Amino acid sequence: MKSISFNAAEIMQSMSEEEIAAWRKITEEALENLHLSKGKGSEWLGWLRLPTTTTEGDLDEIEHAAAVLREQCKVIVVVGIGGSYLGAKAVIDGINHHFDNLLNRNGNPLILYAGNNLSEDYLADLTEILQGISFGIISISKSGTTTEPAVSFRILKKMLEASIGVTQARERIITITDARNGALRTMTEREGYRSFAIPGNVGGRFSVFTPVGLLPIAAAGINIRELMSGAKSMALRLGKTVGFEDNIALQYAAVRNHLYRSGKKTEILANFEPRLHYIAEWWKQLYGESEGKDGKGIFPASVDLTTDLHSMGQWIQQGERSIFETVISIERPAKRVLIPKDKNDLDGMNFIAGKRISDVNRMAELGTRLAHVDGGVPVINISLPALTPYYIGQLLFFFEKACAISGYILDVNPFDQPGVEAYKNNMFALLNKPGYETEAEIIKKRLAQ
Ligand code: PA5
Repeated sequence: MKSISFNAAEIMQSMSEEEIAAWRKITEEALENLHLSKGKGSEWLGWLRLPTTTTEGDLDEIEHAAAVLREQCKVIVVVGIGGSYLGAKAVIDGINHHFDNLLNRNGNPLILYAGNNLSEDYLADLTEILQGISFGIISISKSGTTTEPAVSFRILKKMLEASIGVTQARERIITITDARNGALRTMTEREGYRSFAIPGNVGGRFSVFTPVGLLPIAAAGINIRELMSGAKSMALRLGKTVGFEDNIALQYAAVRNHLYRSGKKTEILANFEPRLHYIAEWWKQLYGESEGKDGKGIFPASVDLTTDLHSMGQWIQQGERSIFETVISIERPAKRVLIPKDKNDLDGMNFIAGKRISDVNRMAELGTRLAHVDGGVPVINISLPALTPYYIGQLLFFFEKACAISGYILDVNPFDQPGVEAYKNNMFALLNKPGYETEAEIIKKRLAQ
């Protein structure tokens, strides 16, 4: 079986032998600390073993629940925010037809999302579109108390109950939350919903290989066994005894931190396949929330190419030289489109007639890489043989492992997100949430100044 590949040779060649030796030592120590639970946030390491410990029985159970929803629903709304929806959306968009919402569905439900924003218009449009459609809900919140999904779930649950009755609605709602704590767990017990538990030692952004990611992905009709098998193969390839020379997670973590220390403060994840857009969104959340703390952290940004070559391309080529780029390449497209020859050649494109679009895309990618390197942008490459669940499973686990190592190199706790509380506290104070009376008084005085 082929595998994803990692290439940072040009950057590594520019490093001295002493620098490489130092990075080998730093990353191998970080790997050991991770596996021996000696690093920061070691109570959050459940994700590390998910690919090797998830059983056939676990997958059977998820597939069974997904099948029940698939049978009953034309649309499944995944309610969640941050790590509670991005992994699922990344994989589903990475595999599905680009125009999935317009396809003749043949029993394959359309997956829609809610609870990832507080837009009234979004919810109004969503509920409008769901009128008269048989829909189901997968409601996901690890804490079970997050405002955005809680509000959306309340509205969608009421709508479903009003349309098919409380008893029937119970058959079409599945919750995924903490095994014991939080409002969503209490509601689950009270209403008798079918439910999956998020392991206590797995944080939201590391939860794609738990039911949080797997149930919506299976509900979309995607093969979660292949996804897990890819993740497992990557987990073994990056295992605790695999040293720097063979361990691409250690190499990626080393190279990006080497660049960071030399003033490259922003990493741009670039792709040449629109399907990868949400993989970049998932990656930004993973790295942004894991590393951006204590006044440190590489800023994770992303571009979709060639689209953004006609916007951000200018900045990347000639803006401040504080960036490096990580390009995800797909070696083999799933489909084939040839550029036809035209007798009149009015558009002047006959020079590429007979070529596949992917040939042109590949040359655009190569040309962009050379231009960016010439413009002073170091480029890392990650290549997938094809966009399949197996290789996406490999990619996501690779990013998770490298992120943990990278966080340890930065000497931050990669598994917490204390900064996320700041906006919530202000919002609760402004909304007069019980328990926030003191904060409300302070914030209102501040706003009155
Ligand atoms: O990575 C994280 O922990 C966060 O992004 C959470 O996933 C996000 O805040 C949603 O939290 P919850 O699942 O508790 O609703």
